[in-house]
Amino acid sequence: MQIGQRIGTPLSTSATRVMLLGAGELGKEVIIALQRLGVEVIAVDRYPNAPGHQVAHRAHVIDMTDAKALRALVEEEQPHLIVPEIEAIATDALAAIETEGVAEVIPTARATQLTMNREGIRRLAAEELGLPTSPYAFADSVEELKAGIAKVGYPCVVKPVMSSSGKGQSVLRSDADIEPAWQYAMAGGRVNHGRVIVEGFINFEYEITQLTVRAIEPATQQTATYFCDPIGHVQVAGDYVESWQPQPMSPRALEQSRDIADKVTTALGGRGLFGVELFVRGDDVWFSEVSPRPHDTGLVTLASQRLSEFELHARAILGLPVDTTLRTPGASAVIYGGLDETGIAFEGVAQALAVPGADLRLFGKPESFVKRRMGVALATAGDIGEALQRAKQAAAAVKPVSAK
Ligand SMILES: Nc1ncnc2c1ncn2[C@@H]1O[C@H](COP(=O)(O)OP(=O)(O)OP(=O)(O)O)[C@@H](O)[C@H]1O
Ligand SMILES: [Mg+2]
Repeated sequence: MQIGQRIGTPLSTSATRVMLLGAGELGKEVIIALQRLGVEVIAVDRYPNAPGHQVAHRAHVIDMTDAKALRALVEEEQPHLIVPEIEAIATDALAAIETEGVAEVIPTARATQLTMNREGIRRLAAEELGLPTSPYAFADSVEELKAGIAKVGYPCVVKPVMSSSGKGQSVLRSDADIEPAWQYAMAGGRVNHGRVIVEGFINFEYEITQLTVRAIEPATQQTATYFCDPIGHVQVAGDYVESWQPQPMSPRALEQSRDIADKVTTALGGRGLFGVELFVRGDDVWFSEVSPRPHDTGLVTLASQRLSEFELHARAILGLPVDTTLRTPGASAVIYGGLDETGIAFEGVAQALAVPGADLRLFGKPESFVKRRMGVALATAGDIGEALQRAKQAAAAVKPVSAK
């Protein structure tokens, strides 16, 4: 099938089928965007009633790190496109699926393999592409970690090579921090894999996500690179809590950011939207990491852009034209569960939506945890300061409560 040339009718033999691997809040928005374009969507997650399951044509629950289970489901559903939403996937199975032409993997199987492991993407960015990064070393033991720290110096950050959302990550200021950091990393890694990266701490002024889209340009029918306005954000314990767009930057820093984003996304290849994470101080920019998929800090684009990052991803993967225009300054603020319970309720929704320019996404997650992201408040305003203040006010108005 020539994706982009035609879209069929869902639930018929002409259907254009897309399978999401991971159906959280980001996948849910991608699915809604695909649904609006008349695509048949299959949502896969590791637990039932995940946010994306609730808006897809069909929902499946499997262990996506199980190569056999993944392959069997792909053969059963026969998607044209496979869209990973998370990192913890049997990427070897994706590589085989791509090589054998069973389905197209977004953006490429190699991109999912390289970005699921901090070592793969760091070596590509720093050693092959020559991009500026923090100094770094890899370690498989406490002894190797000590040697790595001798190289990068204090303060530094230790992270399991296979982890996300700040899990197992700590900042070290002296030798006394080494042993606890190692233990914490061993407990927080995604797989039982004792390898860590130690990075010199970058004393950045601010950090951004440079959303970058690789999509077919209508005039040339070739893949071209498009940039969204930079997104500023605040991270607490490895999780984003607020984001805003556009982040003001010096012309030189913006140019460098786009140059880095262009190089790394071109190297990863394929079509789709990428979230390139960068640290900035003055005119200096460091590459941190990249997601070959929509980025959580990009939830703000649901309010601020003509097409959200999810709509951009949907269009790009289907081979359709994109438009990265900013509509208005905007901001987002995360709503945490605040309690451990299934089937919670939200109070204060009306108060939140009474905030001028505010909007909400409640993800519909079946189970709440104190630190689980359950929703997000969005807001627009004439400037980012006002937008952020509104988003925070709306988020604070929403109160997750026990429904028991
Ligand atoms: N070398 C560094 N110097 C300074 N700050 C850092 C460094 N590495 C990470 N951080 C801080 O920690 C945050 C999380 O780091 P990183 O993005 O590597 O982790 P992650 O687990 O992949 O998080 P996520 O999945 O949320 O993106 C960064 O956004 C930044 O605020
Ligand atoms: Mg990150």
